[in-house]
Amino acid sequence: MIRAEAFAKVNLGLKVGSLRSDGFHTLTGLFQSIGIVDELAIAAAERDEVSSSSGRPVIDGMNNLAFRAAAAVRARAGSRQPIGIALDKTIPAAAGLGGGSADAAAGLALAGRYFGVDDGTLVELARELGSDVPFCLRGGTARVSGRGEIVAPLEPLSGFTLAIVVPPAEIGTAAAFRKWDELGEPAGLQVSQAALPPALRDEGDLRNDLYPAAVALVPELDDWRGELEEAWGRPVMLSGSGPSLFGFFVDGDEAIGAAAAVPTGSRFAEACELMPRGWRFTETA
Ligand code: C5P
Repeated sequence: MIRAEAFAKVNLGLKVGSLRSDGFHTLTGLFQSIGIVDELAIAAAERDEVSSSSGRPVIDGMNNLAFRAAAAVRARAGSRQPIGIALDKTIPAAAGLGGGSADAAAGLALAGRYFGVDDGTLVELARELGSDVPFCLRGGTARVSGRGEIVAPLEPLSGFTLAIVVPPAEIGTAAAFRKWDELGEPAGLQVSQAALPPALRDEGDLRNDLYPAAVALVPELDDWRGELEEAWGRPVMLSGSGPSLFGFFVDGDEAIGAAAAVPTGSRFAEACELMPRGWRFTETA
């Protein structure tokens, strides 16, 4: 059995450019891995299967991105060995936290180890699986550009903790980008440098351009942001295409207090530490 943990991501900033002829948008963003964790395992099986230890159905079944990632690695290895992928999720889905991409990256890493496929091939496969998968394969702190496939690692950020809240809604990435086009390519709300942790002050003003699109799809999102800003006394930002919202806190205790002060009814409210990577093996025997 080989096991790994996959970490969620937040977009500390996300600037979006116009729609390209390939159906994707150019973007530039500051991406950060965070300590919300999915657990994955790979093992030989009688036939291909996807399961969870709770017995709950796995999102998309055999079409799950983690399984597709592992199957793509197997194909590159020229193997026909049936595999079982176990996936236990904590990362909220359709929330802008990159959960499916994190699972895909961990699926690549697990299958890479199992089938003996090199890292360069895994990077190549990551690009084919989804725009956030190349970042999740590397993880930590990185400046991301292109459609997401250009990942420039940065020194790990430190000196702050995040509180993350997922309001009771789901937003599909494609729908958010489509709405952003329809709205005329708006810029997101700026968070001023003075309100950012010292480690982020060199970044200039951070913003997420998908915020207006996310609010157009889920109008209550703006109420959630307003209420959190009041409760926390600081700016609150959107991650990815949402609806995840987050604020910056000086340490874990302050972030835990902030997560406890969230209005009732959210899908998720937790303090999250910054992680220096996108996944890690927890068992390799
Ligand atoms: O790459 P991924 O499958 O995660 O993207 C889902 C959808 O989000 C794409 O089909 C596209 O509509 C949109 N997208 C985009 N520009 C990006 C990334 C995603 O328009 N850079």
